[in-house]
Amino acid sequence: MNKHFLNLGLQPLANNYLRKFSQNQPRYNLNIFFNTKTKLVSISKRIPSKIMFHKNYPYKSSMSKTMIQSFFKLSKEIKKKFKHNYILEIGSNDGALINNFNKKNVIGVEPCSNLALITKKKGYITFNKYWDFKLAQIIKKKYKNIDLIYSANTLTHISDLNDVFKSIDLILSKNGVLIIEDPSLQECIKKTSYDQFYNEHIYIFSCLAVKNIIKKFDLEIFDIKNLSTHGGSLRYYIKKKANKSIKIKPSVKKQLKKETRNGLANFKTYKKFGYLAQKSKHNLLKIFNKLKNDNKKIIGYGATAKATTILNYCDLDNQFIDYFVDTTPDKSNRFIPGKNIKIFKYSKKLLKNIDYIFLGAWNFKQEIFNKEKKYLSKGGKFITHVPYPKII
Ligand code: TYD
Repeated sequence: MNKHFLNLGLQPLANNYLRKFSQNQPRYNLNIFFNTKTKLVSISKRIPSKIMFHKNYPYKSSMSKTMIQSFFKLSKEIKKKFKHNYILEIGSNDGALINNFNKKNVIGVEPCSNLALITKKKGYITFNKYWDFKLAQIIKKKYKNIDLIYSANTLTHISDLNDVFKSIDLILSKNGVLIIEDPSLQECIKKTSYDQFYNEHIYIFSCLAVKNIIKKFDLEIFDIKNLSTHGGSLRYYIKKKANKSIKIKPSVKKQLKKETRNGLANFKTYKKFGYLAQKSKHNLLKIFNKLKNDNKKIIGYGATAKATTILNYCDLDNQFIDYFVDTTPDKSNRFIPGKNIKIFKYSKKLLKNIDYIFLGAWNFKQEIFNKEKKYLSKGGKFITHVPYPKII
């Protein structure tokens, strides 16, 4: 049974950065539910993939050093630990992971043609398609079974999880390994980071839920790692149940126990999260109102999808935030979805004479603080809403 615990109001498409601001851009009610049987947390309104992931998709994984380093580290681990004929990456984006591998051994799947073109041009086999059963059949026919399948921050974007795992099961070799990583529900709850929810993030996974989803495909988790990326993520290592050559590590039981202990199997926890999200909104607005009353100049840093959720939920517009800075070329000179706040291509000059910076990319806090030592040393301050609204 699906039980409702949070309404984040009318939200625009989180990656729809318009050149000209319009009040009339499409908005959808963002409601979040907990499934008492599967333990899966999901949003109710499903936007067709074609509307969200297309030839102008702006998000590029390579925009952050943190992600590049994380993918590099993983590539070293894969090369060392797992024998593979091919590595298939579902959601290869601009190639931040596959760039670390030999072109002959990697297959990328990327529905956004602007991104697929980047890896294609470099000579990587790239299927400019959505991941589904039909594509899995095509790839299987051409490349046989695949020993290693990887997917980061992608499976939570696909509505039909049964089709996702059925397709993976079809193509994964008998002794193959599937590695997936996505934001951790436990971390999201712990940090009251309600901004992890937006139209593209249909699900925020817990280990409890992933275990339930994959069991009908005779897949099982054999190892799990906690990562600091994207505000706290989980990396799941998955195999076929019939493959007894890989032992299940204690990390899996440990994570399941931790999640159960923290109430992730109980609706009560989500109800409290819903209440804390409202409180977070109230307290963030208090900070912004006070600063604006004091005539402080505030800008935003990192025009993330997460920031779109916050600004639309809290109704913060250009009366509060003068503009955003972001390194992504496809976001510059455009507007924060749903809000009349312009985004400019990041430059240090844009941080001059600014009193406060709202940290839209709070998940890259360390990377950003390292970069902005001068701003901080001159008394510049940041505003964040995680784990609770405060000034840093
Ligand atoms: P991310 O947190 O991955 O996004 P989302 O919530 O959209 O999934 O996006 C980080 C954004 O922050 C991306 O647009 C690039 C930007 N960014 C900067 O502008 N400067 C930086 O130093 C870093 C690390 C990120």
